[in-house]
Amino acid sequence: MVAAQEARAAAVGAAILRRGGNAVDAAVATSFALAVTLPQAGNLGGGGFLVLWLPRSGPISTCPAAARSAPLPQALAVGRGEAVALNFRETAPLAAGRDLFLNPDGSVNRERALRSLLSTGVPGTVAGLTQVQVRYGCLPLQVVMQPAIDLAEQGFPVGAELSDSLEAAAALLKSDPTSARQFFKADGSVYRPGEPLRQPQLAASLRCIARQGVACFYHGSLARQITALMRQRGGLISSADLQAYRAPWAQPLQARFQGYRVLTMPPPSGGGVTLLQLLKVLEPFNLASTGLNSAATIHLMVEAFNLAYRDRNRLLGDPDQIAMPLDRLLSDAYATQQRQRIQPDRHRPAAELEAEPSLVSGGLNTTHVSVVDRDGGLVATTTTLNTAYGNGITVPGAGFLLNNEMDDFTAKPGAPNAYGLRQGEQNAIAPGRRPLSSMTPTLVFQADGTPLLATGSPGGSRIITTVLQVLLNRLVHGLNLASAVATPRIHSQLWPDQISMEQGISPDTVGLLEARGHRLQWVAAMGSANSVEVRYGPGGMVGSLGVSDPRRLDAAAVAESP
Ligand code: DON
Repeated sequence: MVAAQEARAAAVGAAILRRGGNAVDAAVATSFALAVTLPQAGNLGGGGFLVLWLPRSGPISTCPAAARSAPLPQALAVGRGEAVALNFRETAPLAAGRDLFLNPDGSVNRERALRSLLSTGVPGTVAGLTQVQVRYGCLPLQVVMQPAIDLAEQGFPVGAELSDSLEAAAALLKSDPTSARQFFKADGSVYRPGEPLRQPQLAASLRCIARQGVACFYHGSLARQITALMRQRGGLISSADLQAYRAPWAQPLQARFQGYRVLTMPPPSGGGVTLLQLLKVLEPFNLASTGLNSAATIHLMVEAFNLAYRDRNRLLGDPDQIAMPLDRLLSDAYATQQRQRIQPDRHRPAAELEAEPSLVSGGLNTTHVSVVDRDGGLVATTTTLNTAYGNGITVPGAGFLLNNEMDDFTAKPGAPNAYGLRQGEQNAIAPGRRPLSSMTPTLVFQADGTPLLATGSPGGSRIITTVLQVLLNRLVHGLNLASAVATPRIHSQLWPDQISMEQGISPDTVGLLEARGHRLQWVAAMGSANSVEVRYGPGGMVGSLGVSDPRRLDAAAVAESP
């Protein structure tokens, strides 16, 4: 079962499962296909994170690569398998410094931070996807990549979401001549739903990666195309940056929550730390009794969100360059202290929280894929260009867009980024550093380590609260996976000091929240939490469920068996 934000890419993953691939093969095949069919977020020029769990034995373990050698030192033993995380987040170029996005008067140049070549971090997606496939996949890389090559070469009928999104991004994409040619018709008009989009240069890039592997992107022809563009148009990424790029394995963060075991992404994503802090703070509140989306439940969640985002923005960053008090942040004692700071009947304004010292020292377009295979193997992977279509600049001759992930750094302490996050010194731009992320690919297991579900979402700073609500809806409020994903969501992140709410929260709830001092803002759909779940019968695994988020028009969950 594969759940993804675009139906053709989900079908590619399901077909790979049918051919004997495991969850990793399917996730990689779907991710490369999303680089073709969901160009606003799927990518070769961006980065991401992945968390996987594979059993040590099962029908798919007969494939050659699954007879793996010794576990990686970062792998965690969970149930009858092992879990590991992969960090393929972009890095700041070696020539980037902390004031990269400041104007001479000290203000932040938002245009440069989001729409110039300076906004591009050294891409990690190709390193990440090829590395996880070679280590954990069953099928040859060429087989796994062929469907993406075909989609780019032969074209595919544009879906409704892509057509709308291209129209919305026309000004950005048309400001770059290469993007204009790649994503619009010869007369400059937008592709309507059903019309074919062919991307021959992207097909050639994918073919080079399929044949030469990671070297094509970081040392070979694609590296030369990227650095030529950087030289011509004032970007910072050099061949030394590309050659130095590594995608490190990492040990997943984990916590127990109401008898379940939750595994998620460690820094440089702030997503996992913040998610686990929130689960620990909220666990004793018995939200099942206050009820789904009641004023009392939303109030407790929002007060916890604001405290956790304060820690995220002050304390988290790239673990290779920054010391972080993770043990303390994830301790039971700290969760208890934070819980005591929540007042049941009164919202604590952001300014009041901001004035307190820390107790410890120290768009809409990203996309998430969840896969479960027939052994119960799980993959959750979130990848991104940052905002839709990244900086809008396509690498000439190579057919892929570049990210604007450098905007996830702190351009200036306290100045909001594209997601309104006001971050601190610990996330300043520095050579080789990775910007703090909110992406939260997450796996959940039963207490005995039996795999249960995989989830994650796009949504910038809202990713963390989206994933949290999918987990609470499913595990605490007893909703099935489809309802857990579809139910209206709320969000708060300290600043702006308000609750963002999707339609579907009742007027009396709104009134009760206002009485506690909350300011409310209705917003359009938040997130796209494509999720999968293993189904069990008395004798063990009997199948799987997949849910694509109904908030996105082109999304789908596609089963391995037709
Ligand atoms: O890594 C992050 O937190 C952001 N660059 C993610 C961007 C995102 O989710 C945009 N999509 N809606």
